[in-house]
Amino acid sequence: MATAKVLLTDLCSGGIRHVPSNYVRPISDRPNLLDVQSSDQSIPVIDLQGLNGPNHSHIIKEIGQACQRYGFFQVKNHGIPEKVNNNMLRVSNEFFHLPEGERMKIYSNDPSKAVRLSTSFNVKTETVANWRDFLRLHCYPLDDYMHEWPSSPPSFREYVAEYCTNVRGLSLRLLEAISESLGLQSDYINKVLQKHAQHMAINYYPPCPQPELTYGLPIHSDPNVITILLQGTVPGLQVLKNGKWVAIKPIPNTFIINIGDQIEVLSNGMYKSVLHRAVLNRNELRISVPTFYSPSPDAVIKPAQELVDEEHPILYKSFTYNEYYTKFWNRGLATENCLDMFRASST
Ligand code: OGA
Ligand code: NI
Repeated sequence: MATAKVLLTDLCSGGIRHVPSNYVRPISDRPNLLDVQSSDQSIPVIDLQGLNGPNHSHIIKEIGQACQRYGFFQVKNHGIPEKVNNNMLRVSNEFFHLPEGERMKIYSNDPSKAVRLSTSFNVKTETVANWRDFLRLHCYPLDDYMHEWPSSPPSFREYVAEYCTNVRGLSLRLLEAISESLGLQSDYINKVLQKHAQHMAINYYPPCPQPELTYGLPIHSDPNVITILLQGTVPGLQVLKNGKWVAIKPIPNTFIINIGDQIEVLSNGMYKSVLHRAVLNRNELRISVPTFYSPSPDAVIKPAQELVDEEHPILYKSFTYNEYYTKFWNRGLATENCLDMFRASST
């Protein structure tokens, strides 16, 4: 008898005609794919050319408006070479095609591990599984973690490290711009983060024979500060805008940036951490690579004093990022924002 497959990668490798019952969502909780808006203009595309030069104040304004209205934007002319991104995507694909035995060496369901391969979201707490495998890596400081990363495929560490260093540079520029756009000192968010944390996931969404029954990732907002998403040409990300799901069409050589829960708190609700989800394709494999830029676990997060006054009463309590992150993983992905547990009015 064949042993049960733990990862979708292996469950699907010989082709699969039906979604197994443990992946099927209750009817009230399915993606309803016919009721999705598709638009090339769905979220703003911001050109970062000249951010440190003549276009500075214009770009800061664009970023501020995008954070306020959408919680999401795309960036082009971001300074990261196309080759770095292509290498990252290629080595990700190669990793998931390693023999099952090789991959399973790093399988773990413990969210506190710095390097782990897993499936769904949190198999310890959830009742319905998601159509996703993922490799999660801690990435900063690189020297603390890189030696624990997979050593196969042979170029994995080199390409992923190069990608991480580049994305850290972009994250720092964006955090300065976001601070400024809030009317704060440009190093405000940088200082709040204390010892920065940078985690990355490689999401692997196999083709799904019945994409109307399940999710790659169900509706959630991201618990961190900002997320920088790299993807190939296959669509799947959808963002909630005015109560409607909007499909994001991939644009080559851009990144998708979204505001996480911590910026919603720091901005005292001025910027929104917006709900999003990943849906599946019947015939196409999709790989996405989000980088989660985060505070140090002991960093104290609270609304910036400059953004609280009589007209803008304080909306969130102060907490450590560790308190927040632990709650996020333990409650599972749910439509109710994890932020609700930290509102100033809740007890
Ligand atoms: C995430 C996420 C979206 C995607 O990993 O938090 O929202 O398109 N991913 O993979
Ligand atoms: Ni997300």
